[in-house]
Amino acid sequence: MRLTPITMEERIALIRIPKWLADLSLKVNRLYYKQLLQYRYGARQRGPAWFDHRIDLYFHWPHNLFWLERGIFPRKEMFEGCAVLDLFCGDGFYSRYFYSTIAGTIDAIDKDPLAIKHAKYWHCHPKINYIVADLVKEELPGSHYDVIVWFEGIEHLSESEYAVVIERIKSVMGETSVLIGSTPLVSSECLEHGNWEHKNEFASVEPLKKFLCHDFTDIQIDVTDYPVLGGGQRRTAYFTLRHP
Ligand SMILES: C[S@@+](CC[C@H](N)C(=O)[O-])C[C@H]1O[C@@H](n2cnc3c(N)ncnc32)[C@H](O)[C@@H]1O
Repeated sequence: MRLTPITMEERIALIRIPKWLADLSLKVNRLYYKQLLQYRYGARQRGPAWFDHRIDLYFHWPHNLFWLERGIFPRKEMFEGCAVLDLFCGDGFYSRYFYSTIAGTIDAIDKDPLAIKHAKYWHCHPKINYIVADLVKEELPGSHYDVIVWFEGIEHLSESEYAVVIERIKSVMGETSVLIGSTPLVSSECLEHGNWEHKNEFASVEPLKKFLCHDFTDIQIDVTDYPVLGGGQRRTAYFTLRHP
């Protein structure tokens, strides 16, 4: 016979949540993130240059899937305890949920103080060091990284800004380090009509490869293609760079 009173947790476990309530909660959650998408990134306002990936998770799923690749692709280059640099980290979603489960340390950097504030609040983790820094003007915090991720970043820099940042990146790469990143491939008629911060967009793999080969001898580029919610197609070029 049990004499201790049942705990609140045990009491809650006894309540069977009805399916209709679970379904309703899911619908309300989805609506919340749909609204967040509209008022933060809607056509009429200039939202942040970074995306809040909770919207992908709770509203876009399962229609837009390309955003998951930034989490999964670099995992194949990571090993237990590796030192990761997450360049232009935006909301911090990838460092928190995809990289922190394998990395030893992560320096995650973005120039937008609001992105870093958001990342620290929603996606903090003891292994992640979120830093506000404009890498065109400021140095990197570390001296060596095993895996450097730079997703949806190069198109945000002019060619001269890129030249400064890539020198900083090369200086923290060793023999076995790898830089893995992505950039959207934009059809020629849509060039310069996307994200307001884009300064250097690419329409196909060839010009991207020509651009990257100034600094790297070992270049691999893969392209993925997805239909997106609301119509259209999303093409993304993923580059894996070694041996600067
Ligand atoms: C499209 S977001 C990509 C965010 C994240 N990597 C992702 O995949 O969701 C581009 C980010 O680059 C940051 N950024 C642009 N120029 C930068 C610079 N010079 N130094 C640091 N961050 C920069 C912006 O603030 C923005 O958060």
